[in-house]
Formats: sequence, structure tokens, C-alpha cells
Amino acid sequence: MAVRGVGRLTCVSLCAQRNSRFQRPALRPLSCPGTVAADLRREEQPSGSTETGSEDKSSKKRFSEVQKERREQAQRTVLIHCPNKISEKKFLKYLSQHGPINNHFFYESFGLYAVVEFCQKESIHSLQNGTHTPSMVTEAAIPFRSRFFNLKPKNPSNQTSEWSHIQSSNQLPPSSKKLFELLCYAESIDDQLNTLLKEFQLTEENTRLRYLTCSLIEDIAAAYFPGCTVRPFGSSVNTFGKLGCDLDMFLDLDEIGKISTHKNIGNFLMEFQVKNVPSERIATQKILSVIGECLDHFGPGCVGVQKILNARCPLVRFSHQASGFQCDLTTNNRIALKSSELLYMYGALDSRVRALVFSVRCWARAHSLTTSIPGAWITNFSLTVMVIFFLQQRSPPILPTLDSLKILADAGDKCIIEGNNCTFVRDLNKIKPSGNTETLELLLKEFFEYFGNFAFNKNSINIRQGREQNKPDSSPLHIQNPFETSLNISKNVSQSQLQKFVDLARESAWILQEEDKDGPSPSSNQPWGLAALLLPSVANMKPLAKKKNKRPASERIKSLLDSIKSNSTENSTSTNGKRTVSTHT
Ligand code: GTP
Ligand code: MG
Repeated sequence: MAVRGVGRLTCVSLCAQRNSRFQRPALRPLSCPGTVAADLRREEQPSGSTETGSEDKSSKKRFSEVQKERREQAQRTVLIHCPNKISEKKFLKYLSQHGPINNHFFYESFGLYAVVEFCQKESIHSLQNGTHTPSMVTEAAIPFRSRFFNLKPKNPSNQTSEWSHIQSSNQLPPSSKKLFELLCYAESIDDQLNTLLKEFQLTEENTRLRYLTCSLIEDIAAAYFPGCTVRPFGSSVNTFGKLGCDLDMFLDLDEIGKISTHKNIGNFLMEFQVKNVPSERIATQKILSVIGECLDHFGPGCVGVQKILNARCPLVRFSHQASGFQCDLTTNNRIALKSSELLYMYGALDSRVRALVFSVRCWARAHSLTTSIPGAWITNFSLTVMVIFFLQQRSPPILPTLDSLKILADAGDKCIIEGNNCTFVRDLNKIKPSGNTETLELLLKEFFEYFGNFAFNKNSINIRQGREQNKPDSSPLHIQNPFETSLNISKNVSQSQLQKFVDLARESAWILQEEDKDGPSPSSNQPWGLAALLLPSVANMKPLAKKKNKRPASERIKSLLDSIKSNSTENSTSTNGKRTVSTHT
């Protein structure tokens, strides 16, 4: 993570130019992720709503429906590397000879790319039939007919003024400077949390690109395993993903093994001749090993392929260069997909859930509580479960327990994976909305207070029952795995990382409480509310024992800002002013 510096300072001076939160203008700058059509589509997103409180669930789709629709959409889509200047009109006309186009957008990632969704799958075959494998002068191309193309102008000298730079869709989270500017502009802490959510959540285009990437990988895997499916899971689909998050996918071979009832009558049962290996784990390792080789040798745009086969959950890690996604491919990961579905449900039940989770995730990232490298720190998945657990504790509860979702399930919801009961109701309309009307500001403060004082030494977090339970072992942080209930999802977290989390939570609760009392003065140039929580912590800079003699919040923050200012002046000279604060993974 880049260290706090120039970005924040710039923001502070921007804040200083404006008045306090009590005189904030009604208009806030709008984010501009892409085209007008893109903005319209973004508004359609069921998970994009940022109104506080329970929502109208009539438009909410089941997780399986979303997955099915997105997958089908991705199968009709192609990815095209384009020249930097292009005539959009001519480009679309050229592609339309293969069939009508339903949707398209451009984005930049080491060059200009177009994502084009045809109305029919057949158009892709037509396009592939009119495409040739490039002939190399010094190197040899491995012929591979994928849905990832390279577009070249036939006659570059023929380009007219119509060939111009194209407006491309944004695939990145806002810079820290922009984020702080937006947060300082906000009208309330609730507004700040909703703003952060809007700015960091996956856009429609980014979501499409994630499903398309899985679909392209599926094409490659299908060379070995015809009929296989590559499904995205984790934060790409559970509605808690931030722009820039990794793409978790799993190779689903279950459909291949399923018996078709079609023409299966008579006295015999036909089986495929297969090779046997001593265990499921070895089978997984062998499958991932060949897929890893395949991606490495033939996968267009797949680079840096690493086979991590001895991990608890074996995986192949690689970068998909064209989309810019860091991908983790696993197999046999149905429970993780079910966890994603559960999180999707919780995120859809009440819009405060996502707003709170995004802010807590950004807060944790800003204070280096989470990182993109595996280690003894808390993960985003654990943080999300902690927020869910906290919301189950409110009075009245904002979220139901997993056990109560199980009670509401019908026969169609029944789901047993590897002997674990993963059943819960999947129809959102069957769940009664919460009567709780607490504000996000209160919830954020109470979240920090709750976990700043949680008895981690003896209690475990358990969203299945929605109450604290005795810890079954001595790991510093115990969060029960919702489906494999004997497992702890935060087993990796060390005592010192947990202590850091607790200290920062207390510190943050204290900052919000002090602000509540005093409020920053209209003439002050202090970041306030959520923006203040994303600043470097006193807990990091001073021994905790000295905390008793705290100075007033305004004084503390002022001295912090002074110290950042002097640090960043030093740093900016040595780094050419390029340092920014990263609050994303
Ligand atoms: P980010 O990638 O950090 O944005 O969040 P993520 O939710 O995608 O987390 P991650 O990529 O680490 O893991 C992907 C998914 O795997 C999670 O959403 C969970 O469904 C699942 N998962 C991750 N860690 C654990 C764990 O310790 N236990 C279990 N059972 N599932 C996990
Ligand atoms: Mg992930």
C-alpha cells in the first residue's frame, strides 16, 4: 500500500477552500465512469441503491438468476484490442456485419479495449470465421481461436478526423485526492458512507468484464474438459467487491459428471472410462496443473501464471493482462460459491449493509489492517462477516441469523455440500424487512465501539446463531465458518494484528464521539467524519499507554496534518510528487 502523503494533503487544502460541513453546497460533483448509457445502466443495478434503510425487494434477483443471466451475456461477448484512435461508428458498422450488437463499451488498460456484446451467439462464430492468425516475422504464433481479438486498420493512412480518442469507461477506484474531496463535500456522515460506496462499488462495465474474463478462461479449460463451467465467486459477485479487487473463479466440473435422464432407460448403466487417483485433493491438483500449463502456453493475455498446488485450497494464480484482473482459479469450491451467495443475500437485504462494509474495508485498508498479500492479518471476508454479526446484534436486528434463514428455506433451497448443511432461503421476498431505522453514522460509531470492547479472548463470532459464543480454541480471533462450522475463517490472524484492530477501532469510535460533541468548526480545515477515520492513526504513531492524556480531537488532527505535511514535502521531492494514498486492494 502506498503511504499517506500528497493525495491527502491536496485534499485537505481543497477542503480548506470550502466551508465546513454546516455550509456544504447542495450540489456534489458527479462521478463520471463512462457513457451516459453506462450511467443509466448503473442506476439499474439492483445492488447500486444507496438509500438508507430497508429496500423494496421486488426488483432484487436471486443470486442464481444473476449468475445465469451474466454468464449467458458473457458467452455472447467478445474482447477486442483496438488501435488507440478509432472511429466508433465505423467500428460498430464493421462488427455488425456478423450480427446485431446489443451493447458495447471501451476501456483502457495498456491500450484501448472494446467489450462487444452481440445479440446472438452465432455472431461470434461468424466473426471467428472471418479472423486470421497473425503471421510473425521473427516469432511463431500458437494458433488459438479465442474470443479475444486484435483489431488493426487496413489502411492506417486513410484515417480521417472521425478516428479520434474514444471516451472509455473507468475501471479504477477514485484517487485518494478525489475521494477525500468528495467526503469533505458530503452533507453528513451517512452521506459520506454512501458516497464511498458509490465510488468504490463495481460498475456495470467492470462486472461485465469480470464475467467475460471467466467466460474466456472457460473456453480455454473446455479444451481439456468440454462442458466445464468457470464461475466467478468472492467479492466479484457478492456485491462487496471494490473496483480493483481480485477475480476469484472456480472450475466447475460437476455438470460434466451429472447423469442425463435422457435415454437412460433399460437394465444397464453406462459409465465413462476414467483414470483414478488416490484422493480428491490429488485430482484437484492434477486438474489445476494442466489448466495452469494451458493458460501459460495458450491463454491469450494470461501472464505470470503460478501454480500454487500445495496450499490448503490449491489454486492457479495469474494476471489477465487485457482486463487488468489478478485472477485466482480453484476447483471444487462450491462452499465458497455458497458463501458468496449468502453474502449477496445479506448485502441485498438492507442497503446499510454494503455502505457499512465498504467503509470498514476502506478503513482497514487505509490503516494497513488488510493487505493483498496473505499473512497474519485480517481478511476482507472476515471483516464482512464481522459487520454482518454486528448488524445481527442491533435492536431490533438489521440482519437475520443464518439459522433463521435456514428455517425459512423450502425444499428447493436444500443444499448439502460435502456433508455440510448449506441450506438457507434464497428468495429475498420471503424475508421480513427490519424495523430498525438507525443511521449509518450511529452504526459506524457503534461498530467500532462494539469491536473495540469485544471479549476476543473468550468469545467467538458466529453469524449462524447471531450471538457470541465461547471460543472453542485458543486462536486470537475466532470467526466461525458459516457452513463448515468446525472451522475458523480467521485462524491466520495473530494476536498483534488483532490488537492493532482493537486499538484502531477504539481510536475511531473516540474520534467519532468527539466530533459528535464538538463538531469541526465552520472555519476549520479539518477532514471530518469518515475522512478523519481514514487518516493515519495516533495509535500507530504514539505508544498506547500515553493515550490517557489525550488532547482535544481538533488539536490532535491538526498536529497530525502538520506532521503529514512535513513528511509529504520531504517525500514528494524524492518521489517526483507521484505518491498517493491507496485505500483499495
Ligand atoms: P477481496 O478479494 O479481498 O475483495 O474479498 P473476497 O471476499 O473476494 O476474499 P478472497 O478473495 O480472499 O476470497 C474469496 C472468497 O473465498 C470469499 O468471498 C469467501 O467466500 C471465500 N473465503 C475466503 N477466505 C475464506 C476462509 O478462510 N474460509 C472460507 N470458508 N471461505 C473463505
Ligand atoms: Mg477476492
